[in-house]
Amino acid sequence: MLLQNDLLLRAARGEKTERTPVWLMRQAGRILPEYRAVRESVSGFIELAQTPELAAEVTIQPVDLLGVDAAIIFSDILVIPEAMGLPYEMVEKRGPWFPNTVRSESDLKKLRIAEGDNDLQYVMDAIQITKKNLNGRVPLIGFAGAPWTIFAYMVEGSGSKTFSLSREKLYRDPVFSHQLLQLITDSTINYLKAQIRAGADLVQLFDSWAGILGPKQYEEFSLKYISQICDAITEVPVTVFAKGAFFAREALGKLSCETIGLDWNMGIEESSALIGPSKTLQGNLDPAALYGNPDQVRKATQDMMGQFRGKRHIANLGHGVYPDIDPEMVKVFIQTVKEF
Ligand code: CP3
Repeated sequence: MLLQNDLLLRAARGEKTERTPVWLMRQAGRILPEYRAVRESVSGFIELAQTPELAAEVTIQPVDLLGVDAAIIFSDILVIPEAMGLPYEMVEKRGPWFPNTVRSESDLKKLRIAEGDNDLQYVMDAIQITKKNLNGRVPLIGFAGAPWTIFAYMVEGSGSKTFSLSREKLYRDPVFSHQLLQLITDSTINYLKAQIRAGADLVQLFDSWAGILGPKQYEEFSLKYISQICDAITEVPVTVFAKGAFFAREALGKLSCETIGLDWNMGIEESSALIGPSKTLQGNLDPAALYGNPDQVRKATQDMMGQFRGKRHIANLGHGVYPDIDPEMVKVFIQTVKEF
């Protein structure tokens, strides 16, 4: 299927584009009333994610309603632990929770390496339906969590302010830590390759908890595994978003991926110098900037676009859009990028 709008893919590869492509992290299923309507027709997030027709519907909503230049498949980074044998629950208003955790050698033995096609068939079905219904309008982004971020949830069993249990593991039991990280990495490669076979046009790794590690530990326990994934995925462009990893920008620039995501704490000029000209940069407006009025949102967006001028760029926020943002302000952001 030929894409009518392939701005995202061309920008990722560093090719010329008529304008900068724009999409938002977490654009599916957070801010739209149309999402909430679908969400209320099922028992919860997990049922929605596991019902391919509905997952495809909410994946396409932001394309129809907001005019973004890409769709991102509706799922979660935590489907990987589940496929490895560690099921999760989504607790209303509190977030993800795992009844079991992985903290010992015997916990490790109960896990398996996930096979994308068999263990996560519902994601592949959702991707196929989405591709069919998008009918080439925009590219579809597949995604996974980076191994360190997934490790943190599997050890901790939930979100955490400090992730001190998972960081304790890195110090007290590096052998266990590397074994678990390798299992996650192998599972993630299988999963992303299955998403690409099903139709994903680009894949993104979310290292949401990158910023809680120091530079040396980040190198040893996160980048090493992200690097394996980047080397393994040669079929489509890869984006790495390592939130808070300002200290690793030079090293991120050396990965064999096309795009590096920036959060809003990272200076654009400085990041570009550290990462180098061989990568596209994605980001990086402060998600809170969308709490402003239309003039303020326009001004903040133009300011960001001005700083990226002349650089390889995919416009986005510096993290996922916040759930209480007015969709009208998201439209102002998108429109301002398109007109820049
Ligand atoms: O980008 C998209 O809109 C596609 C779908 C998507 C979801 N989660 C759906 C979701 C994506 C890309 C994710 C990624 C994700 N999930 C990350 C990495 C990105 C980031 O924000 O740093 C992380 C850390 C998670 C884990 C997770 N899932 C948390 C902490 C929560 C609870 C709070 C929250 O963020 O909403 C979730 C739940 C979740 N994942 C929801 C959605 C739409 C809300 C559940 C609901 O509808 O009840």
